[in-house]
Amino acid sequence: MIQTENNNFILTTENTTYAFRVLPSGHLEHMYYGRKITLKNIDAVTEKHAFVPANSTQYSREFDHFCLEDLCLEFSSYGKGDIWEPSVEIVHSDGVRTCDFLFEKFEVTDTKPEYKMLPGSYDESGKYEHLCITLKDKFYNHRIELHYYVYSQCDVICRSVKFINGGNESVVLNRLMSAQLDFSDSGFTFTSFHGAWAREMQRSDALVTQGKFVSSTVAGVSSNRANPFVMLSREGATEDYGEVYGINLIYSSNHYEALEVTAYGKSRFVNGINPATFSYVVNPGEDFESPEAVLTYSHEGFNGMSQNMHHFVKNHIIRGEWKNKVRPVLLNSWEAAYFDINERKLVNLAKAGKDAGIELFVMDDGWFGERNDDHRSLGDWVVNKKKLPNGLEGLCKKINSLGLDFGIWVEPEMVNTDSNLYRAHPEWSIEIPGYEHTEGRNQRILDLTQTAVQDYIIESMSSVFSSANIAYVKWDMNRIFTDFYSQKLGAENQGEVAHRYVCGLYRCMKELVKRFPHILFEGCSAGGNRFDLGILSFFPQIWASDDTDAVCRAEIQNGYSYGYPMNTVSAHVSACPNHQTLRTTPLETRFNVSAFGVCGYECNLAEMKKDEVAAVKAQIELYKKWREVLQTGDFYRSRNFLTSNTTEWICVSKDKKKAVGFMMQKLVRPNTRYECFKAHGLDPDAEYHFYSFGMKYNIKNFGSLVNTVSPIHIKQDSLLEDIIAKFVKIDGETEDCLVNGDTLMYSGVKLKQAFAGTGLNEETRYYPDFGSRLYFMEC
Ligand code: GLA
Repeated sequence: MIQTENNNFILTTENTTYAFRVLPSGHLEHMYYGRKITLKNIDAVTEKHAFVPANSTQYSREFDHFCLEDLCLEFSSYGKGDIWEPSVEIVHSDGVRTCDFLFEKFEVTDTKPEYKMLPGSYDESGKYEHLCITLKDKFYNHRIELHYYVYSQCDVICRSVKFINGGNESVVLNRLMSAQLDFSDSGFTFTSFHGAWAREMQRSDALVTQGKFVSSTVAGVSSNRANPFVMLSREGATEDYGEVYGINLIYSSNHYEALEVTAYGKSRFVNGINPATFSYVVNPGEDFESPEAVLTYSHEGFNGMSQNMHHFVKNHIIRGEWKNKVRPVLLNSWEAAYFDINERKLVNLAKAGKDAGIELFVMDDGWFGERNDDHRSLGDWVVNKKKLPNGLEGLCKKINSLGLDFGIWVEPEMVNTDSNLYRAHPEWSIEIPGYEHTEGRNQRILDLTQTAVQDYIIESMSSVFSSANIAYVKWDMNRIFTDFYSQKLGAENQGEVAHRYVCGLYRCMKELVKRFPHILFEGCSAGGNRFDLGILSFFPQIWASDDTDAVCRAEIQNGYSYGYPMNTVSAHVSACPNHQTLRTTPLETRFNVSAFGVCGYECNLAEMKKDEVAAVKAQIELYKKWREVLQTGDFYRSRNFLTSNTTEWICVSKDKKKAVGFMMQKLVRPNTRYECFKAHGLDPDAEYHFYSFGMKYNIKNFGSLVNTVSPIHIKQDSLLEDIIAKFVKIDGETEDCLVNGDTLMYSGVKLKQAFAGTGLNEETRYYPDFGSRLYFMEC
């Protein structure tokens, strides 16, 4: 709901209130954002300004009783007394940098105009709650539009800002933030997610009591170094209790999130395009639109906030045919064969996949040009006939005839200097002529600021995607930017490269998704180097990390889950020792972790041991039965490896009739036998059947200890051990009981006793290093 009486603007969602007003001076004073309140007495929530303290400046002679330095503002700029993190920075043609944007008018509509170059949130109904406030600069003719979109059911408010040059001269826009959020107090914990390749989404908490904390990147992609999703929480917030704000940006390039505490103990948060690499020339009559920011608040802890974000992303970001479709179980060729692929090998792998229950076979890198390693051929999207003599179509037909869908890997934004494309169009590459180029994975980035390059990508990809019955595309992007330079833009426009690039990318993605609506697109950038709401506005899922180690993955997926629903997080079971860490984890744990994302496989099923293949087959069968719950249900976190030896999640179906729980331990601690599984999100009054499937253990896992229960002596590592291991397994525990939702949630279920140096029997929970369990609940 949007209320606009007396120039007080109150936006209400199901559980939150957002309020600001116009001051007599024309500035917008931010009054409140948080838990829903009845805002009858506006006076009660506004600051009383009677004088300006020494050493601060008076805004004007007329308004000499207040200072912009000590005011909660809705939109701020440097100057006129405000010395904190601004929302806009403009260099006017006369060199003046001061701005003073004051209220001009407002409008409430039920529409949402599309951004010219950027993706944004949407509502299937086509009806919106939209407030637009127009501000006008006091000295120049420029205007700012503040747009607010209220998504009541998921407690989300989206914001975007438009700058309009109303003067007769060009200006340089050095900053335009997407959202500003002022609080009259401080002491927030700023949570951001950092990392590197294979180490995405590592949570970091910083208590900001003075100064400024910034999470940002200039890598040219939203990046694994700092994801644009961040949280602000008040003291004492936990997964289930306390006040948490979640903030994201619908953008895939350089971004900036800052929380600054002022001298007067107020806090100001801003997010938007990173000003560090940005300057944009806006000519008279032209405008510039910021990316859309997404804000949510919950007083029910991090889980409450995540629920809001998950609902929002599922309903108002993800689009297209795959939005509500259950995703197929795929087998990807990368870790099975890397670049060393050919038709025979791929078909064999696909056959093994089919036997195990795989539904979609994906050929990764290596199929085009002379692509035998990562040194050449990016840009030349022509099939390598030595590897695939029957072309994509021939291979695809063979895969389809096995009863599998066929998918393909591409990296359209890149070029190797050793490629026909580069030889023909060196000016299409982002590089500074005459400078030695800073290489990354031996490849350069195509200059997507150029329409001709966008057209090349659209047409070359269209011809690949239509050359066979392609059901799935993995769209990769494997290097970061370091030197932004377009050979086609003028010197004064070089500060626009990063932004123009991502807008060019969005045009390509939008067009290809429109041309190929049936294809399931998966984003990727060396794993999760571009995992953001911009990409998710076109592609419904993203390869979350090249790290498939189950321990790392549990941490990484836990990180993503704060801001992103788990059906956007693609997760594969891979071989052990793991190719990124050389760690060995149980196969069931690798599956259990993957099952909480969009589960797939990335290993050589054709060469796996028989009992492993049988286990994989059983996993896929189980996953197919439960994937609707896992992919569409509500996901909650309990414990995690940051603060505990255990990670614990649960996914609950929309109707609360079914749920799957996950529990995993990092390292065994001896003689810690008792554990309790605690659920979330169930119907407290319903009775659930709580159960697990008993596991069968290889006797070799028990070494010589097996002799304490074996009727005959089994020498470790002997032939006899090998033979017995083939036929005899040790049964593990099962859980099986009827228990009420309230008990499951508030008390938890006490699990069977874990192995503690003694107790080799089927009532014992064998829980080795990296052991895990799935628990099922049905009513
Ligand atoms: C990136 C991706 C991998 C794989 C390789 C292929 O690293 O993240 O999954 O596709 O590229 O070169």
